[in-house]
Amino acid sequence: MNLKTDLARIWLTRSLKPFVFKNEYDENLRFHGIDELGLYVHIPFCKHVCDFCPYCKTRYDQDTCDRYIDALISEIHIVGRQSPNKRKVTSLYFGGGTPALAIDRLGEVILEIRKHFDITEGIGIELHPDNVKVSVLRKLKELGFTKICIGIQSFLPKYQEILGRKAVDKEALAYVLEQVPFETVSMDFIFALPDQTFEDLKSDIDDAFALGANHVAVYPFIDFTFTPSGVEGAANKEKRKLLDQLTMYCKEKGYKRDSIWTFSNSEDAHYSSMTRDNFLGFGVSATTLLKDQFKINTFDIDAYCKRVDEKKLPTAMTLRFTQRQRMVYYLFWTAYSTNVDPERFRKFFGVPLKKKYGFELLVARFLGFCKLQNGIYKMTLKGAFYYHYFENFYTLAYIDKMWSVLRKEAFPKKIELK
Ligand SMILES: C[S@@+](CC[C@H](N)C(=O)[O-])C[C@H]1O[C@@H](n2cnc3c(N)ncnc32)[C@H](O)[C@@H]1O
Ligand code: SF4
Repeated sequence: MNLKTDLARIWLTRSLKPFVFKNEYDENLRFHGIDELGLYVHIPFCKHVCDFCPYCKTRYDQDTCDRYIDALISEIHIVGRQSPNKRKVTSLYFGGGTPALAIDRLGEVILEIRKHFDITEGIGIELHPDNVKVSVLRKLKELGFTKICIGIQSFLPKYQEILGRKAVDKEALAYVLEQVPFETVSMDFIFALPDQTFEDLKSDIDDAFALGANHVAVYPFIDFTFTPSGVEGAANKEKRKLLDQLTMYCKEKGYKRDSIWTFSNSEDAHYSSMTRDNFLGFGVSATTLLKDQFKINTFDIDAYCKRVDEKKLPTAMTLRFTQRQRMVYYLFWTAYSTNVDPERFRKFFGVPLKKKYGFELLVARFLGFCKLQNGIYKMTLKGAFYYHYFENFYTLAYIDKMWSVLRKEAFPKKIELK
């Protein structure tokens, strides 16, 4: 596996240099001149911790959560005040964990954000099905939330059991969603679970749209090395079959594919904290992507609060990009939206995409991974599968490795990703 990632990295970045994350950071982040900037806030508490979940989270307790929110507000202030005037940002997403567990304090967090940033495309939040109550959703609306994303995983009892989750009360869910509408109601599902058939997956997607979702995210199950989960995901061949059947089905139904894993039945429905050219992340484990660097905050809640109390940024590690590394990173995340616009690339880097990756794009077109339509590279079904395959690979080779280290050490010295 390493040989493959090594060769791909060396070829695409035109350098032998691995991605090197170091225990160093800038107190001043250069986000002022940047065109498109998104915000992400991580709240790492859950009532029950699921075995399969790789994200940075811990069991909820009110005192720790309060201390954490105080630190979060300070971190936003430390970063936000670096901009001489209010910065325009596209979107703000809250993820976790289960951010609605801190609902009584989300207003303070948003207030601090609004002191420094102008949000132009709305505010989103990830919800656990337990959070989907009329009182909670009304409160979220009052706070200015426009998008919600509910972690269903599967409506089928068999898969809820495999994943160690409680059954979702579909009727109650539909009732609440009807009472309190949002511009985007997304639902998360996990597929490629043991013996899962297309009929199983189709029934989940049909239920989601029937119960009030206008957007669904369908993620292939990933077995992270550090999670205690005993669930074995399907083989690649099965995954491809399911993904292709799902894509064709959504196409037939007229659903719009707005990223590799997401489909919607409405033009206005969007939910993605990832497909941004640049973003600032706040909270434990949150990442920040800027033109020259990628940084990741510590995963340790105590270490996070301590650093912020000292008025310093809680960054655990920074990767300083070479230009080619940044281009590869840019293309990887832009391709996630299934489209790559050469004009946007030129605007971002000041060089034509063709000049830098003309050969690779030609090969990708020749192999049937993408098509050029009205000047935009559009991913084909085949391309989407290979992208998914590559992403899975990248997740296990890079993200799994980083998170394994960061879960154990608050500020590791160095991590090299080859
Ligand atoms: C931060 S989590 C979920 C939000 C909420 N706390 C919940 O559990 O309902 C975001 C999403 O990641 C997906 N996810 C979590 N672990 C995964 C895994 N091992 N493989 C694939 N997707 C996963 C799930 O669909 C989940 O809803
Ligand atoms: S899946 Fe959701 S509820 Fe379960 S541990 Fe992960 S963030 Fe928490």
